[in-house]
This record gives sequence, C-alpha cells and structure tokens, in this order.
Amino acid sequence: MNAMTSVTDSFPVEEIRALFPAIQKAGDFIFLENAGGSQVPQSVVDAVANHLIDNNVQRMARYAHSEGVDRKLAEARESVAMLVNAYRPEEISFGLNATSFIRLVSLGISKMLGERNEIVITDMDHDANIATWTALEADGAKIVWWHMREDGRLHTEDLVPLVGDRTRLVACTVTAHAIGTIVDVASVGRIAHAAGAEVFLDSVHYGPHGLIDVQAWDCDYLVCSGYKNFSPHMGFLWGRYEVLCRLPTFKEDFIPDMPPYKIEVGTFPYENVAGMNAAVLYLESVGRRFLNGENSRRAAITAAMAAIRGYEVTLSRAMIAVLKRHGATIYGISDEALLDQRVPTICFNIGGITPQDIATDMGKAGIGLRDGHMFAPRLMKRLGLAMETGAVRVSMVHYNTLDEVARFDAKLGEIIARRRG
Ligand SMILES: Cc1ncc(COP(=O)(O)O)c(C=O)c1O
Repeated sequence: MNAMTSVTDSFPVEEIRALFPAIQKAGDFIFLENAGGSQVPQSVVDAVANHLIDNNVQRMARYAHSEGVDRKLAEARESVAMLVNAYRPEEISFGLNATSFIRLVSLGISKMLGERNEIVITDMDHDANIATWTALEADGAKIVWWHMREDGRLHTEDLVPLVGDRTRLVACTVTAHAIGTIVDVASVGRIAHAAGAEVFLDSVHYGPHGLIDVQAWDCDYLVCSGYKNFSPHMGFLWGRYEVLCRLPTFKEDFIPDMPPYKIEVGTFPYENVAGMNAAVLYLESVGRRFLNGENSRRAAITAAMAAIRGYEVTLSRAMIAVLKRHGATIYGISDEALLDQRVPTICFNIGGITPQDIATDMGKAGIGLRDGHMFAPRLMKRLGLAMETGAVRVSMVHYNTLDEVARFDAKLGEIIARRRG
C-alpha cells in the first residue's frame, strides 16, 4: 500500500460527507470553490435553527430566552478560544466578518502611531488585509512591503531587514487565499517581537485547513471568518488581552471599556455565532475519531486538523498532477517535495483559454470553481495577470475526494480539446 492510499483510506471522507446536507442534496455537483465558502454539517444547521426558535431575542435580560443567548455566547466564546488556543475566552470577539475586524484594529492602531509608524504588509494577501492598512497612510503611517518571491512564497529572511525600531506592526496572512501558500507565521512572530513590533494575522483562509495556535505563533491579533470554517457568515477576532485593553475602539458610553465588550459594540448575528460553536464541536468530533489517549477538547481539535492536513496533502498532490498533465501554469507551490507548505487551494491558467471560459464550462458541467482576480489586485500584478481575467482557482477542503479530482480531470480534458479544437 503506498503512502497516498493509506492516508486516504484512513480518512473517513464518505462518513464526513454524509454529515453535510448540501453535499447530499447536490448529487453529482462538485464543490471546488470552498475558498468562497464551505458547506456546513447538519449539526451547524440545527444549532442556527434552534437558536432562532429558542433564543431569537436580545441578550442580557432576565428571562429564559435571553439568558439562553448569554449562555450560548459564552459557550461559543469558550469553543472558539479552544479552537485558536487563546489564553482566555475574553480574547475572542464576535462580529460580522473579518474585514470589519481588520478595519477596527487598524483604526485603533492609527491612533497610536507616533514614532513607530511603519506597517509591514505583503503582496500575497487578500486586499482586506492590505487596503485596510494602506488607508492609514492618511494618518501618517508608512507602508513597507514584504514581497512574495517568484516561488509563490513569503520568505521570512526577507522580512528581517524590513523590521526595526520604527515598525509598529507586521500584518500578513497565515495562508494565501488565492494560491494556497502557508506562511511561517511563528517566525514572523519572533522577528516582529524582537524589534518590539506587533503581529496581525489573517487566518481566514488557513482556518479550515490547519491548527491555529496563537500561543505557539506568538501573535497579537488574528481574524477568522465563519463561512470558510464550516459555519455560517460571521467573523471573529482574537487579540491578546492586554493588547485589546490598550486598543482604542469606538463604543457607546454604557459599554464597559474592556474586551470583548469594547470590540463587540452593537448587535451581531447571534444565531450564526451558535453555528460557529457547532462548527468547532464538529471539528472536535472529527478529531475524536483519531484520538487515542488524551481526550481534551484541544487534543480533539489538534487531532482533527492533523488528520485534515494529511488528507488534504493527498488532494493537493492529485490535483497538481492533473493540472501539470494538462500543461497548466500553476501559480505558487507545485513542487511535490513542498506540498506540506500549501493547502489544496490551487490557482492556474491554461494557455489559449480564458479563465472565464473554463469557469463557465465547468459551471455548466456541475463543477463550481472561481475565475478572476480573487480579490487580490496586488497579487495579480505580482503574478503578471490582468485584473479583468486573472486565473482559475480550485479550492478543496476535507470533504472533497480523489474521485472528484478525477472527474475534474476528465472535464478539463474535454474543455481543452473542445476550446482549442
Ligand atoms: C484571506 C482572506 N482574508 C480576508 C477575507 C475577507 O473576509 P470577510 O469576507 O469575512 O471579511 C477573505 C475572504 O475571502 C480571505 O480569503
């Protein structure tokens, strides 16, 4: 038995797929656009529905429905704190999406710039983690670019000379949403902190693929979005408690000046936060299939993400082999030996056929994927691609299968033959 067979055999993908009603309902349809939002297990659907039936009221009142909201928010905070390995649950704030949290943090930082006014950002990131920071130039920030190399990776040795006693913050992604590269964020944490700077991590794309560990990464802020993490639309911010205490935020006078309240002003979709709680419980249930020995919630999450990483490498390997066979230009890591440095989010072009034609033909054939700029204008420029056309992206998660990759392979062959024919 070769290594690839053994990982795919031991990963219970069919049992997992049976837990996702959208996958069951979709029949032969193939979800290859999970970077645009993953599907949710039935337990998440139930958590959202139950919240709407039992607790669709405002929090902090003295009756059972409302007390239930408070209890569920506290449970979700505990779960998400477990998911990211927070030091304490109060470090988790809930809200609408990742972008609004990046903006909230950046506005706070803009008020504390002073002598340390340099913000390091990358050209591999989603524009949500770029434009939010470049907007601070109006407040006196100086933007310093950490450029991606030709190999589609951010090399931490390139970061070292960019960081010094004027660096206020390094903001970067944990994993590129367009090309799938994983960044060595633990080294980013070390380099930035050695210079007295803070670290802001965008974990929106990494979340469904690997273990988040804010303590091991030694970062200061981290954002995630529910919809990529087997949950409905919502976002959360983790921030080191003392750092959040210092961060200036807007809040009404009646709101306590402490995390998470000073961050969570106004109402947010409580039912979707209940869904995010269920998504963490789902991941734990996946992990318990692989645990032998320690039985804590964090151990289950760790086991789940390790199993998911291993399985996803087989998906990357298979998809990259297919794309190479069809002569695709792959943006980012395609070297067999480096597959553990990427997730199965793969961006490519096929010579002589537009990304739009490929995506249209695939869509008609029941394969959902994305074409275009991937909301990353700087990255498109770096890759020499036009914003109007961009590239094609296939993005898989742990409920995708090698059989789906094979069906994609066959369809791509047909499209190339017909379009070039
Ligand atoms: C890496 C990354 N960062 C940020 C965002 C923006 O997230 P949100 O839509 O939750 O604001 C996305 C969305 O696709 C993303 O992929």
